[in-house]
Amino acid sequence: TTAVGSMSDVPQDLLAQIKKLEEIFSVDKAKLKEITAHFVKELEKGNVEGGSIPMNPTWVMGYPDGNETGTYLALDMGGTNLRVCEVILSETRGEYDIIQSKYRMPEDLKTGESDDMWEYIADCIQQFIEYHHEVEDLEKIDKIPIGFTFSFPATQDYIDHGILQRWTKGFDIKGVEGKDVVPLFEAALAKRKLPVKLSALINDTTGTLIASSYTDPTMKIGCIFGTGTNAAYMENCGSVPKIAEHNLPADMPIAINCEYGAFDNEHKVLPRTQYDVIVDDDSPRPGQQAFEKMIAGLYLGELFRLVLVDIHDNKNCSFFAGQDISKLRKAYTLDASFLSDIETDPFENLQETGDMLKQELGITATKPELELCRRLAELIGTRSARLSACGPAAICTKKDIKTCHVGADGSVFNKYPHFKARGAVALREILDWTEPKDPISIVGAEDGSGVGAALIAALTIKRIKAGNL
Ligand code: GLC
Repeated sequence: TTAVGSMSDVPQDLLAQIKKLEEIFSVDKAKLKEITAHFVKELEKGNVEGGSIPMNPTWVMGYPDGNETGTYLALDMGGTNLRVCEVILSETRGEYDIIQSKYRMPEDLKTGESDDMWEYIADCIQQFIEYHHEVEDLEKIDKIPIGFTFSFPATQDYIDHGILQRWTKGFDIKGVEGKDVVPLFEAALAKRKLPVKLSALINDTTGTLIASSYTDPTMKIGCIFGTGTNAAYMENCGSVPKIAEHNLPADMPIAINCEYGAFDNEHKVLPRTQYDVIVDDDSPRPGQQAFEKMIAGLYLGELFRLVLVDIHDNKNCSFFAGQDISKLRKAYTLDASFLSDIETDPFENLQETGDMLKQELGITATKPELELCRRLAELIGTRSARLSACGPAAICTKKDIKTCHVGADGSVFNKYPHFKARGAVALREILDWTEPKDPISIVGAEDGSGVGAALIAALTIKRIKAGNL
C-alpha cells in the first residue's frame, strides 16, 4: 500500500479525500474478529431455521470415494457465463477428461423473461451436443446424466429439484422465484428432444467442495469469490436441526450451501459506507446479499465509480474538474477488471490507468487524480479480500477445524491482484496465528461447476442404485 504522505504533489483537497476514503474503507483486525464472531452465530442460526443466512441442505451426502466413473454432462449457470461440459471420470481417483464450451450469458436475458432464458440454455446444450457427437449417434445413445450447477439460493427437498429462493448477482427474471427450476429447464430440453436427463441440481460452492476433495482430501470448504461470494462445507446431519424430520443418522455428512452472501442483511456488524448503501438501494433486490455487495466482483467496479462521481460532485474539492464525466455517471459501467488493471499498473507513472480513463470514460486525469484512483482501487480490493476471509474463518471456528485446505474459485480469487495474499493476512489476524506456516490455507480449487457437478451426478446415481434415496 501507499502512504498518503508519499504521494507526489497531491493537493490538500484530494489528500483530505484520500484520507477519508482510507478511514471508511479500512477494516482493522478487531473489526474482522467482531464480524467473524457474529458470522459464527449466524451460521448456527441458519442450521436451525430463521436466520438471515439460508444454510441450504444440498442432499450431497458425503465425499466421492474415487470409484465414480462414467460420462456426464455439466451445465454451469453462474453469473457471467454459461458453460456446457462433458466430463469423463476415469477409473483412477482424481483423474478425468473434460471438453467444454463457453457461451456468454446475454445481459438482457438476466432481467428478461423466464422462457427466453431456458430456451437459450437449452439451445447452448443442443449446440454443444451436436458439435461433439454425430447426429445419428444421438438417436442410439442412452440419456446422458447432467449435473446442473445453478449458482443461486435454492430450497431442495431432493437433489434433483430446487425452488429458487431469490435471484442474486443482478439477475431479475420474472416468474422464477418461488418455483422449482427443474421442470422449467426440463421443458426446454424436452422440446428439443435432447438425450440428457437431469440427475442433480447443485450450487457452484458445493461442486467446488466436492471436486476439490476428490483430488485433495484435506479440502473441507468450497468457496467462490467471483461475481458473487459464498461457501459450502460438510456438516453432520445431527447438527442441522431443521432437517431432523428426515431421521437421518446424526453422524451422516451432508453438504450445506451457506449462501452467506446474505450475511448481515440486518446491518449489525459490517462497516457499510454510504456507497455500499447506494449499491444496495439501486440493486434489483435491496436489503439482500449485504455481505456479497461489499465483496463480490459484480460490485467492486460500481463502488469505485460511485466514489469517483461523489468526489467530482463535491464542491469542496477539484477532481476531474472541467471534464465531461457523463460516461462515468452510468451505473455498472466499470467492472472489477478495471480495478484489477489499475492495481497492476506500475505505480511510478500510472500511465495505463490514465489511458484507461481516457479510452473508456473520455476523462483526462491529472497525476494526483490518478493517484487517488489507484489508492481507491487498493482500498476497495483490500476490503474485499479482508472481509472475504471472515467467511471461511467463521466456518472453521464453528466446526472447530484447526487445519485444512479451503478450495476457492471465481474471477476475483483467480484474477484480482493481491487478493489471495491480502485474504491470507486477514485470516492470520482473525485466527491469531503466530506460527510461520498457515494452518488453514485458501488455495485454488478444482473445477466445481464442471467436474464437481459430474461427480455429484455420479454420486447420486450410485445412491439411487443402492436404494439410498
Ligand atoms: C451468489 C449466489 C450463490 C453463489 C455465489 C457465487 O451468492 O446466491 O448461490 O454460490 O453467488 O457464485
